[in-house]
Amino acid sequence: MNLEQIKKIDKDHFMGVYSSRLPVCFVDGEGCYLYDTNGKKYLDVFAGIAVNTLGYNHPKLTKAICDKASSVMHTSNYFYVKEQAMLEELLCSLSFADKVFFANSGSEANEGAVKLARKFFKNKGENKYKVITLDNSFHGRTLAMVAATGQKKYQKAYTPLTAGFLNVPADDIDLLEKSIDDETCAVMIELIQGEGGIVPMSKSYVKAVRKLCNDKNILLIIDEIQTGIGRTGTMFGYESYGITPDIITLAKGLGGGVPIGAILATDYASAFKPGDHGTTFGGNALACSAAYTVVSTILDENLLQNVVDTGAYLEKQLSSLQEKHDCISDVRGLGLMLAIALKDSSKLSYVVEKMLEEGFVIGTAGGVVLRFVPPLIFSTTQVDDLISTLDMILEEIK
Ligand SMILES: Cc1ncc(COP(=O)(O)O)c(C=O)c1O
Repeated sequence: MNLEQIKKIDKDHFMGVYSSRLPVCFVDGEGCYLYDTNGKKYLDVFAGIAVNTLGYNHPKLTKAICDKASSVMHTSNYFYVKEQAMLEELLCSLSFADKVFFANSGSEANEGAVKLARKFFKNKGENKYKVITLDNSFHGRTLAMVAATGQKKYQKAYTPLTAGFLNVPADDIDLLEKSIDDETCAVMIELIQGEGGIVPMSKSYVKAVRKLCNDKNILLIIDEIQTGIGRTGTMFGYESYGITPDIITLAKGLGGGVPIGAILATDYASAFKPGDHGTTFGGNALACSAAYTVVSTILDENLLQNVVDTGAYLEKQLSSLQEKHDCISDVRGLGLMLAIALKDSSKLSYVVEKMLEEGFVIGTAGGVVLRFVPPLIFSTTQVDDLISTLDMILEEIK
């Protein structure tokens, strides 16, 4: 099937929720490179929206998936699942958490985390159910997570919104404190708002939020769906903020391309009892084996150090571009979760399309920045290739 045939079927049969797809279909990949239906090669700086942690066709991940595909992929949570147990143990050994529950996506993990926070207080006979989140946040597309997400554009088609969510501005600890009442069970935040435009929270604010949650005896949920699994240079983003959450959620990079989400919590916050929550697919052997391989390969191949080094190099090169090109208003982010803002955001899609023509896959975030979230195996040579082409295209739009 060629691209034109694929586009025709998609136009006829896909529920067109994406304003437009970029005119390419990737059919092969190796390392940080993708190949389209015509065999054209692209350097991938997008990783399927910060998902493909180990790039494409990583031998260990490919083997882990093929092994499970040729034996047992799924049996359900009515049975013990060896790969699930291995992944639980690994994630707990690397984090603050004592307990894990596996879901299939980020939205689903966040839904579960909110249920967990509500259940925590139900167990004590308290009716605390409200969750406070931040303006400009993104927590997913399910009905409850649309209400949690602090952006009207995701909410307006689905009113009335699910009750129990309140969005407040970031970096205003007094307002957050005033918003907490007797019915509040949790505060849920991203450390770096991803879909909102790669907007890092300040360390002082995050520490103040932690303290406030302690003082008010409510739970702190960190949505690490985009920041987790090495993306910012530590296995989990909270490590570089110097706080310990009660609950975190993971998805995206965890499975390296295989759908999986997770809720991690302390023993204290693990309030679920038999029958309180469940899933058909969550925690299946194939997804858990993939995720176990992703996380252990990050450790075995010292990829956190690569994220720190290559991320610092990329940030430096983006800052040099900012010095050279007046059209860049900001460079921000951490590790391999970086972005540049353009003074004229209407030029973003032009830059993305031109980069694609030149053989580079980059994305945007929040309609305000160019987003750089490559596989964690990205190299400084690949940064140089990216920067020289970006330099050329920014020159064109000045
Ligand atoms: C921080 C954050 N939370 C939640 C989600 C939703 O994840 P999913 O699309 O897997 O449901 C995303 C996805 O972009 C995200 O970035």
